[in-house]
Parts: sequence; structure tokens; C-alpha cells
Amino acid sequence: MSKRIAILTSGGDCAGLNAVMRAAVLRAHGLGWEVIGLENGTAGLLDSPPRYRVLKPSDFSNTVLRMGGTILGTTNSRDPFAYKMDDGRVIDRSDELLESLKGLGVDSLIGIGGDGSFAILNKLVKQGGLNFVGIPKTIDNDVFMTDFAVGYDTAVAVATEALDRLQPTAASHDRVMILEVMGRDAGHIALAAGIAGGADVILIPEIPYTIENIAKKIASVKKDGRNFALVIVSEAVKTPDGQKHEVVYHGGETRYGGIGDYLCLKIADATESEARVTVLGHVQRGAGPSYNDRLLASAFGVKAVDLLVEGKFGRMVAWQNDSVVDVAIEDAIKECHIVDKDGMLVHTARALGICLGDE
Ligand code: F6P
Repeated sequence: MSKRIAILTSGGDCAGLNAVMRAAVLRAHGLGWEVIGLENGTAGLLDSPPRYRVLKPSDFSNTVLRMGGTILGTTNSRDPFAYKMDDGRVIDRSDELLESLKGLGVDSLIGIGGDGSFAILNKLVKQGGLNFVGIPKTIDNDVFMTDFAVGYDTAVAVATEALDRLQPTAASHDRVMILEVMGRDAGHIALAAGIAGGADVILIPEIPYTIENIAKKIASVKKDGRNFALVIVSEAVKTPDGQKHEVVYHGGETRYGGIGDYLCLKIADATESEARVTVLGHVQRGAGPSYNDRLLASAFGVKAVDLLVEGKFGRMVAWQNDSVVDVAIEDAIKECHIVDKDGMLVHTARALGICLGDE
């Protein structure tokens, strides 16, 4: 069996990726295995020569554990099965990529990614007969079969801090402040940060809402003598009549964006209040990892190497009930982990009197 593992980060970056790599490299070296880091996700393998670097424990001796981003680089738009060439053609480069990887003398791969990346990597490793273990990361926390993904805790902390910073300025100006946060189709960040940051209204894609319900809540806040209100909204929330708010970027890529501005005007009209919007955006991804993310990253990195050494392949490491376990990657990519409308956090929010928009 090869004693050389390749590791890569894929999809959107988040806090804690470097901490995962550190843990994997320290564990692998302790067991006598070498680790190479692939640059820019799988995309670096398609460059000539392929872009990679040997990762040694000394590379992680100082600040890297604490750093946001990924020292290897990443991509969320270079699917090797449908690769967009500079001349506009879209071609399958998977065979080329697998050849390149084999040329580096590895047959084991650790992929740090979200559900989209895992679907691609799983297809790739099956085609190439590679030994694969996945480590879930994403601020959205939408990977199925794990309670937490690396990067989520930090993003929630950033969003909570944003509410902390909006509160005094809202109170100073008698304003309704709307904070738009990321999360793609899952409302985990908005729900958790909204509870932790004392929001009056939390809007998530899983729960429908009306402007009237929001206005009713803000009116009751004012009636109780408070001169400001805080609203947090997840980027994928639609308008009450079901319209998505998206931005189309160069090349046709679409991303969520704009629901905060939409709600700001609607809420201002419905409540006759001054309202302002803050779009938190990529700030949620760029922070140094929280201690929880460092712990998760460390436990996941060690477990991933252990699985490869034990010969357990096609697995994803997962956090379930305060323990690190492994699940079949095929099962993990079947569904998306969205907010449970009947779950503990939704119940908590309602019990605190927070308006979720549906009543
Ligand atoms: O999946 C992570 C995420 O940050 C989402 O919350 C967000 O919708 C998206 O990525 C933004 O993607 P990009 O970095 O390509 O703008």
C-alpha cells in the first residue's frame, strides 16, 4: 500500500481548513506516511506540471492553525467532468486529472469539501480506483449525516458579532436593522446567530413568512418601549410570492443576493420605520477559526488519516452525538442537511418570542 496521501481543499473556503490539514499532516507523519497538498482543489492537477507541494509538520509549526482561508487554494467552479476551457468549450478532463494524480505516486486522497465537491470527488475516485476519505467543511453546515461541518461555528460567531455591532447603532437611530447572512439553501447560520445575537425576527428558507407577520412583531417590540429591532435573513429566503433573489456574475455564474435590500424597503414601508441593510457576505468565511472549529478540524484530520491507514475507504468523517464517526460517502451525498422546522433551535427561537415570519 502507498504511504503517500494527497490532500486537497475544494469548494468555497472557510475558517479551519488549515487546521484540518495540520492535523492530517501531523497524524500521518506520526505513522510514517507522507502527505502532499494539491493546489487549487483538483484544478491544479490539470496544470502542466501539476501544482502540488509536500506538506511537512514544520509547515504547520507557527501561525497556520490560526489562519483563515486555505494555504493550498481552492475552487468552486472547475468541475473536471464539465471543465470550461478558455475558448468556451466544456469538456471532460477527468481521465487527464487521474493520470496526473497517479503520476504523483499517490493512491489515497483526503478531500476537504462540501456536498458539491464530494459528489464530484466520489465520481472521480470511483473512476480512478482511488482510496478516498472526505472531511466535511462549509459555513452553510448543510452536509448530510454530520451535526457540524468545519467553518460553520466561526461563521455563526461572525454573524453574531455583526448583530452585536448593529444593536447600538440601531438603538441610537431608532432603526430596524436587517442583516443578510450566507448559508445557501440552509438557514443554519441565520437561525443560530439570530438566537445568539438577540434578533427579533429570523427568516430562513425552510420557513415561509409574510411581511405582515414581521411588521406585527416590530410593532409589538415598539409597543413594549424598545426603539429598534434586529432582523436576520438567510440569503436564500425568497420573496413571499416565491421569487429568488440572485446576482448573475461574469460568465453566467449565479449566487444568492439581494433579499436583504428587498426586505429593507418592504419592512420600512410596512412599519413606517427607518430601516437599513447590512450584507455580511464573505466576511463570514475569512475569519480565523473559532476554538470549536479548531477542535472539529483536529479531530476530523486525525480520523481521516486513521481511516486510510485502517483501509476504510469511501467514507466521510462526521460529528455525531459528541463523537467523531465515519459514514459512507455515498450516503452523505444523498441529501442536504437543512434546518429541522420541528427541531430544538426552532423551538427555542419561538419560545424566546422571536418571530420566524410564519406567525
Ligand atoms: O457555500 C459557501 C458559500 O459561502 C455560500 O454560503 C454562498 O452562497 C456561496 O458560498 C458564495 O459563493 P462564492 O464564494 O462563489 O461567491
